[in-house]
Amino acid sequence: MVDEQILRVAKLIKDSKRVVVLTGAGISVESGIPDFRGPNGLWKRFDPNKVGTITSFLSNPEDWWKMAQEIAPILFNAKPNPAHYALAEMEKMGKVEAIITQNIDGLHQKAGSKKVIEVHGNVRSASCIQCKKKYGIEYVISEVGKGNFIPRCTECDGVVKVDVVMFGEMLPEEAISEAYRLAQECDLLIVVGSSLVVYPVAALPGMALNRGAKTIIINEEKTGYTRYADYHIYGKAGEVLPKIVEALKEI
Ligand code: APR
Repeated sequence: MVDEQILRVAKLIKDSKRVVVLTGAGISVESGIPDFRGPNGLWKRFDPNKVGTITSFLSNPEDWWKMAQEIAPILFNAKPNPAHYALAEMEKMGKVEAIITQNIDGLHQKAGSKKVIEVHGNVRSASCIQCKKKYGIEYVISEVGKGNFIPRCTECDGVVKVDVVMFGEMLPEEAISEAYRLAQECDLLIVVGSSLVVYPVAALPGMALNRGAKTIIINEEKTGYTRYADYHIYGKAGEVLPKIVEALKEI
């Protein structure tokens, strides 16, 4: 049985021409990866000022690696959940043009989504922050495994860092420009599992709204954009999104 709100949201999606999805850590919680600001969020256990900024990483990498070593096994063993698969199916149905994700876990791609823009980077590779030489993540894991918390560049001896964006760092230029373009060109933005508090990504819903796009938020908690959204469905992404796909097939 698909409830009234789900039906209305499915109709809005069906009637929209350019649907873009913005996801945050909440969509991966049902895959076992903690979010940051929810009740069991990472920032409830680690201080983001100590382990989330580029300056703290460079001055005291051990703290960052302590958190990374706790999260890494969860991250690398995580599997997509029904929410990721639902979005991949909506892309196949021609109802999702692209996913802009703040997540670094690669689960959208593992679920089959093709157009995924990773605005906060990913854990598949690492780079020297001085000469930008690229490394596979294996290099970093093996160096840290030897107790070398600051893997060094074999070219210039610079610091090698996993390709995830830390506070105080610029976002990957191409990814964030593409995200801005999509937010301004879509006629429907669906936000899933994000508290929408971290800029510049948190500016995307405002950009879409300013261009007259409609917005749907699927999130367990209220967000700063909830009052402007056309719909806010409170619930677990892994339960809500499959119902929306089911409704899309019926209407
Ligand atoms: N279904 C739907 N929503 C959920 C679920 C779920 N199963 N689990 C948690 N949520 C909601 C939480 O209530 C919260 O509002 O997802 C949201 C996650 O918000 P954050 O933890 O702030 O994650 P996010 O918005 O992605 O953070 C943005 O902050 O620390 C940085 O770089 C980090 O990319 C991250 C950025």
